[in-house]
Amino acid sequence: MVVKTLKWAGGIDGCLEIIDQRKLPGEYKIIRCASVKQLYDAIKTLAVRGAPAIGVAGGYGAVLSLQGISAKTSLKQSLAILKRDCEYLASSRPTAANLRWAIERIIKCAGKNAGKTIYELRKAVLKEANDICREDIEMCRKIGANGARFIKNGMGILTHCNAGALATAGQGTAVSVLYEAKKRGKKFRVYVDETRPLLQGARLTAWELKRARIDTTVICDNMAAALMRDGKIDMVITGADRIAANGDAANKTGTYGLSVLAKAHGIPFYIAAPSSTFDLKTKTGKDIPIEQRSSDEIRFLWHGLPARENTAKMAVLQIVPDGVDIYNPAFDVTPAQNITAIITERGVIEKPNGHRVKKHFTL
Ligand code: MRU
Repeated sequence: MVVKTLKWAGGIDGCLEIIDQRKLPGEYKIIRCASVKQLYDAIKTLAVRGAPAIGVAGGYGAVLSLQGISAKTSLKQSLAILKRDCEYLASSRPTAANLRWAIERIIKCAGKNAGKTIYELRKAVLKEANDICREDIEMCRKIGANGARFIKNGMGILTHCNAGALATAGQGTAVSVLYEAKKRGKKFRVYVDETRPLLQGARLTAWELKRARIDTTVICDNMAAALMRDGKIDMVITGADRIAANGDAANKTGTYGLSVLAKAHGIPFYIAAPSSTFDLKTKTGKDIPIEQRSSDEIRFLWHGLPARENTAKMAVLQIVPDGVDIYNPAFDVTPAQNITAIITERGVIEKPNGHRVKKHFTL
């Protein structure tokens, strides 16, 4: 059974329950987001994270936004508040295409229901958020089914960050491929990059794979090259946060380096992502906005929360001296020419480029 990363509890007056991923693997805790501000903070501090998961969360954020509206507020004003709150939520993590995609979908749905009562509007928005969630679960399953054939018995597979159930509403993207291969009886070993600075690989992917009884070895990010040279890696598979029209893909910082290494060693490099991660309005990877995060994430070793928000005063270990500059982009861009194939819920885009991406979405 894969974990349920997020769940809407109740009807239009309900709230969003999420696994607090800042606490994993030490503690499994569910937190409730009952306001737009709580959800914004949960997304910003990575209590909920991963491009598809934050897209689904954003949809439910719109439901929370409408809860704050009083019966006296006009429909026009309600829509304005909804748009403002949605923009606020979208600003929490600017790289992932899924968040803006979900929010635009909700705003469109709200626009179509603007002639009705507030109650009807709230019901329509909740239905749309539920649809986004349900579709995400289905897309994850199909990605797994479309990618499983790439995994052969005895393979060593390298992954980076967490593109598993914890990053989606369903069974993940890259990790869904692994789950599906395991279901089909394939035997393989997964090497998981620890993924500095926030350790999504070590903390989250390793946790998920262990639960699924998949053979797993965690490595430091700087060990991949030697493992490839030593013949331990037969393929690399990661998720993506945004894929541009030409097939360039933004994913967790360090992914680009892996793609270069894979190319140098003649190892196939796959990306698994739903169509909600494609942003065909963004022409190339150069146009993808890259989220810059707090220097504290690098200055201090991971302790569950960014240091500034460490109200519990947990012990922190400073590893970079005060006053030294730090650069902390959360993502980097892998050029399409380094990608062997992109696996989506619709099928597989081999050797992606602008023409093939367009064809994939028009067929
Ligand atoms: O900063 P994060 O943890 O949200 O980054 C997540 C990733 O980079 C994932 O690989 C990506 O969102 C794909 S998740 C299916």
